[in-house]
Amino acid sequence: MEGNPRTVVITGGSSGIGRSLALEYAAPGGVIGLLGRDAGRLEEVAVACRARGAEAVIGVVDVRDRAALAAWLGDFDRLHPVDLVVANAGVLVRMPGGEVEPADDAYGLMQVNVLGVLNTIQPMIPRMRERRRGQLALVASVAAFTPLPHSPSYSASKAAVLNYGLSLRAVLAVHGIGVSVICCGFVETPMISDIKDPKPFNMTPEKAAERIRRGLEQDRAVIMFPLFFALMSRLDGLLPDRVRRYFYAHSERGRASAVNR
Ligand SMILES: NC(=O)c1ccc[n+]([C@@H]2O[C@H](COP(=O)([O-])OP(=O)(O)OC[C@H]3O[C@@H](n4cnc5c(N)ncnc54)[C@H](OP(=O)(O)O)[C@@H]3O)[C@@H](O)[C@H]2O)c1
Repeated sequence: MEGNPRTVVITGGSSGIGRSLALEYAAPGGVIGLLGRDAGRLEEVAVACRARGAEAVIGVVDVRDRAALAAWLGDFDRLHPVDLVVANAGVLVRMPGGEVEPADDAYGLMQVNVLGVLNTIQPMIPRMRERRRGQLALVASVAAFTPLPHSPSYSASKAAVLNYGLSLRAVLAVHGIGVSVICCGFVETPMISDIKDPKPFNMTPEKAAERIRRGLEQDRAVIMFPLFFALMSRLDGLLPDRVRRYFYAHSERGRASAVNR
């Protein structure tokens, strides 16, 4: 997109990557819309954005609530025409012990990670089309590239977001709207703080926000980082099923014996 986006809406703006993105974009003359379910944490981020000179508006809205989210976005956009929307809110379900994830968790995750993204993006499309400008950013993950055995619904949700975003990009380019999908590796946020396994190439949310901003400035289709880890994940996704499962089983055994040592 040309120049800096002045008005930015971020779902999941109360924590982790969304919080850091809000601070990254907060600058005098800018307006940041922050959405999430926890009013207290949203307000803390809003205060930090205001300290950087931006106007900040919070919306206590669950991204699963299609009608409420559309209403909030419509009201906000009428007052502050939105330049950039980041559909970032997400949850992770991870079962490292080899168990299948509970059905309710899997259904719940899909509602946030997939339908929550649609609920965020869809209301903005006609508005941006009318203005013939705007940018949509969808936060997926490197998990979009490969089926993680610990996280079936998470991997599936991120693959859905990746393809949804790229399909939209092709359609919306002629209407002057940019669409980018963000596929990041490990970012040190509350989402992954319980993971005890190694987190190769993990980075801070501030660094991730910088990378995302740079990728969006360049209107990249897929903003993936760290590059080596993202490419390894892509390669992993292309391996024959048997080979991939052999590697996973091997690394699980290695981890188990390290724990027992
Ligand atoms: N951290 C990583 O390693 C990593 C890697 C790749 C991709 N990602 C993706 O990056 C995105 C942000 O994750 P994060 O790491 O920053 O995690 P985080 O710190 O746990 O933040 C998640 C955010 O999503 C919001 N959220 C969750 N469910 C919601 C709902 N139903 N309605 C509205 N907001 C909701 C949370 O706010 P409330 O709790 O206030 O609702 C919170 O602000 C996610 O899509 C995640 O999948 C993360």
